[in-house]
Amino acid sequence: MLYNAFEWEYPTKIYYGIGASDNIIEKIKELKCSNPLIVTDSGFAQTEIYKAFKKIFNSSNISLNEFTEITSNPKSKTIDKAAKTIRENKNDIVIGLGGGSSIDSAKAIAMLATNKGELLDYKYDYNIDKIKNKSLPIIVIPTTSGTGSESNHWSVVTDENRRIKINVGSYLMAPTLAIIDPNLTITMNPGLTAATGMDALSHAIEIYCYKFIFPIPEAFAKESIELVFKHLVNAVKDGSSIDDREGMIIASLLGGWAFSMGEENGVHILAHVIGGMYNVHHGITCGNLLPFVMADNLEAMPERFEEMAKLMNIDEKINNRKIEAKDAVKAVFELIEEVKLPKLKDLIKLSNDDLETIAQKALKDPANGNLVKKLKIDDYLSILKKVFN
Ligand SMILES: [Fe+2]
Repeated sequence: MLYNAFEWEYPTKIYYGIGASDNIIEKIKELKCSNPLIVTDSGFAQTEIYKAFKKIFNSSNISLNEFTEITSNPKSKTIDKAAKTIRENKNDIVIGLGGGSSIDSAKAIAMLATNKGELLDYKYDYNIDKIKNKSLPIIVIPTTSGTGSESNHWSVVTDENRRIKINVGSYLMAPTLAIIDPNLTITMNPGLTAATGMDALSHAIEIYCYKFIFPIPEAFAKESIELVFKHLVNAVKDGSSIDDREGMIIASLLGGWAFSMGEENGVHILAHVIGGMYNVHHGITCGNLLPFVMADNLEAMPERFEEMAKLMNIDEKINNRKIEAKDAVKAVFELIEEVKLPKLKDLIKLSNDDLETIAQKALKDPANGNLVKKLKIDDYLSILKKVFN
């Protein structure tokens, strides 16, 4: 038997094209909506892209309510505040425009518009019935290439009181439409391009190493890995290269979609703990963790690593030798160097006690149950020490 039995369906419609976001008014009307709330972060709200986007509304008969208070590692209380706004305004559609934080927040706000209470009431704990009502229609428009939030039905949000990240998710809160427009990613600076790109690669690699992988996410993950290795370095070096921006936004879409069909692996288990405790960019965190988690997993699944190495542009003829499983880890280390990803240990200083706390919290993540290699406390500590010491 080649494959285990599986089921797959996905409710989000994808609309891809260079300049696709210019058609936002038409898309809102197709959904029979007329009173949108746009959700984005305060930094993005100052950009020329956002101003141009607003102009499209100014020259139409659809007016726009705005919520521009989203932060990185978005906070549950911010989302509760936006939910109050949307309930009062009686908006009939949410538009999430920006990076993963804005899109994750928009999905959570659209859910709270049709479900009572506060966001933390809906923390995912393997009870899929907590969310009763379908969200308001939601259009998501990514302006970075990495989070893949546009193609999944999850919001990852910080519970600021407990300093942890929580997941809120249900097919009832999947985006109605994702508009994928590479033009919107052109102005990303090299640092953000590198960090978000490493997030995309982490999704693809983690799902490729998932215990219960099946052919659809497997195909998406393989394509995503190939695209990142073909386009990320060039996108960082020359942000105006539309071909490389296209490659990366599709890598992000496919990686995020694949990730929605599985569970976190070691990288995201640790990244969510670190992101809940320290305000550091998610992509930088994932990128720093990725090669060390891979190295730790190598012996548990050498065939998958060998397959990945072949996708990573490692030319057998140039190297004049057989590609080996460990080449995948080496290729990721080299990619990180090439895109000049900041070192996590230069951004946050952690003591051995801090690392112990992170490892203990990671161990409590239920996703640990579905890792091919069961990570124990010593494994997590060893990975963290390599990243932070
Ligand atoms: Fe991620």
